[in-house]
Amino acid sequence: MCMVIFAPLFAIFAFATCGGYSGQLRVSVDCMNKLESNLSIGINFAYPFRLNQVSFEVPLCEGKRRERLFLVGDFSSSAEFFVTIAVFAFLYSLMATVVYIFYQNKYRENNRGPLIDFIVTVVFSFLWLVSSSAWAKGLSDVKVATDPDEVVLLISACKVQNNKCGSVYGPRWSGLNTSVVFGYLNFVLWAGNIWFVFKETGWHKGGAQRYPGTTPEKPVAAFNQQPYNQGSFDQSGGGFSAQGDLGQQSDYSQVGSYASSGPTSFSNQM
Ligand SMILES: *[C@@H]1O[C@H](CO)[C@@H](O)[C@H](O)[C@H]1NC(C)=O
Repeated sequence: MCMVIFAPLFAIFAFATCGGYSGQLRVSVDCMNKLESNLSIGINFAYPFRLNQVSFEVPLCEGKRRERLFLVGDFSSSAEFFVTIAVFAFLYSLMATVVYIFYQNKYRENNRGPLIDFIVTVVFSFLWLVSSSAWAKGLSDVKVATDPDEVVLLISACKVQNNKCGSVYGPRWSGLNTSVVFGYLNFVLWAGNIWFVFKETGWHKGGAQRYPGTTPEKPVAAFNQQPYNQGSFDQSGGGFSAQGDLGQQSDYSQVGSYASSGPTSFSNQM
């Protein structure tokens, strides 16, 4: 159940904290002639961190003249990559939850559900790792590019000895730090789930019981195998198809397989 609850939730945290971010820094330019100074120059920026498109005006400390400057760098690719992966992971995990809960039988059919689920889970784990790492790197670059002490270096007036420039305050990073943490948490969550999805594919049993349609001739044997095949859905599939034509005994085998597979199907999601 953990995967079912946490995967969509963690994905939301990841893209909301990154995609919803906006920050501000403030610097001061204190000219030799105080009248020309501006002690509170605010610079706003936000997701997707195309900082080279963020402009601000600062005094030149030469009469009333001012200059328009831009921050440095474009970090939109890593930020957008991260948010895109998070959104798709959210959509997939929601869809998987619905399929898993409401379309159990279709999910088991020909083993296709577990197979697709396995591949997609592996791919998403990998993408979470890559996008979180890329975004962690992007974020550290954003932090440098928006550090007030770095921004002051861009201002011409600040290169003149007699003018004093300084930082008033820098951006708050807690939201974006959280997004990176959630990126890696999502990776751990999805990577951990690979094992449970793998178990559902039945590959670890050597593939002998992969196709449920081929086993129902011997429902009793199938029942006897239950202890070896805890959590085997192929067995429960066999039980199902045997139920119609074989009466009491196979009903029994179906109950047996239900008992063993029912709870595991949900604990697999833990
Ligand atoms: C200082 O800069 C801000 C822009 O951040 C501007 O709105 C404000 O008018 C400036 N103040 C003066 C005194 O020029």
